[in-house]
Amino acid sequence: MNSERPRETGDLAGDPAGTGFLPADTFQDQVSVVTGGGTGLGLEISRGLAALGADVTILSRDPDHHGALLAEAGERGWRVTAKALDVREAQDVTRVANEIVAEKGKVDLLVNNAAGNFVCPSERLSFNAWRAVLGIVLDGTFYCSREFGRAMIAGDGGQIFNIVATYAWTGMPGVVHSASAKAGVLAMTKTLAAEWARHRIRVNAIAPGPFHSEGASGNLWPDEEWAERLRKGIPLQRFATAREIAAHSLYLCSPLCSWVTGECLVADGGGSLPTPWWTAGERVKRG
Ligand code: COA
Repeated sequence: MNSERPRETGDLAGDPAGTGFLPADTFQDQVSVVTGGGTGLGLEISRGLAALGADVTILSRDPDHHGALLAEAGERGWRVTAKALDVREAQDVTRVANEIVAEKGKVDLLVNNAAGNFVCPSERLSFNAWRAVLGIVLDGTFYCSREFGRAMIAGDGGQIFNIVATYAWTGMPGVVHSASAKAGVLAMTKTLAAEWARHRIRVNAIAPGPFHSEGASGNLWPDEEWAERLRKGIPLQRFATAREIAAHSLYLCSPLCSWVTGECLVADGGGSLPTPWWTAGERVKRG
């Protein structure tokens, strides 16, 4: 494995996540749906799935977000389709899920990646802003899970993969909307894993630490000073790359983790570990 320290910013010209360590047919012919699959982490997960044989449909609110992956898929011969969808709109989720099942005949994997987030003191957060983030993250994850989950139950099973955050456990000042929604998604992950195991559906999640993406940079760390403060709290001393988090995600979705369900992988460079109160090399006085 390449031990070179990864650059923090993604490099879309690079090899898709998962290729090189997962067999080339890992997701062969698996019908996969990725919400928010045209940008950031969703894009890297979608690229990896497509490169490893999946038939991928990306769902984004803004069709402008579809172009990059569709163009790359055309060049590389990947099977990628795109549909416009706002996951907050329950009836649209039902319609689009029905369309995909009618077109592809089944659904094997749903990645609930679509999210919205920004830093705002709780006392200044408008109800509309709360509703926007809860709607995308919590409602959207359930709407998609229910609709695609029904298709998996009617078929041969499948899997659902969710993106949460370590502040689902710890809370985080400034993102009460996102933390509350992600805590709900974590509970949903475990609940659906337990409830749908008998339908041969695995449900897992990943809790990534900071990585640069169109959605995160600017909304969560508007400048390098904020980014540096965040970086200092990470024991591995750097942000992740979207591709790294996508690779961890694809590993969890692969048959290498076929016995894992209801689990959440913390991939945060150690950022949620306790911080030592002493400095390495410092002499500890005795007596
Ligand atoms: N600070 C405070 N309030 C904010 C905000 C911010 N940075 N961004 C949005 N809001 C508020 C808006 O003011 C509005 O509330 P109001 O009507 O009371 O004024 C409410 O949130 C909805 O905003 P709007 O832009 O109309 O909604 P939207 O549904 O189009 O988009 C987001 C909401 C969160 C999805 C949008 O901000 C966004 O696209 N963010 C980038 C994507 C992202 O966050 N990705 C995930 C990164 S981890």
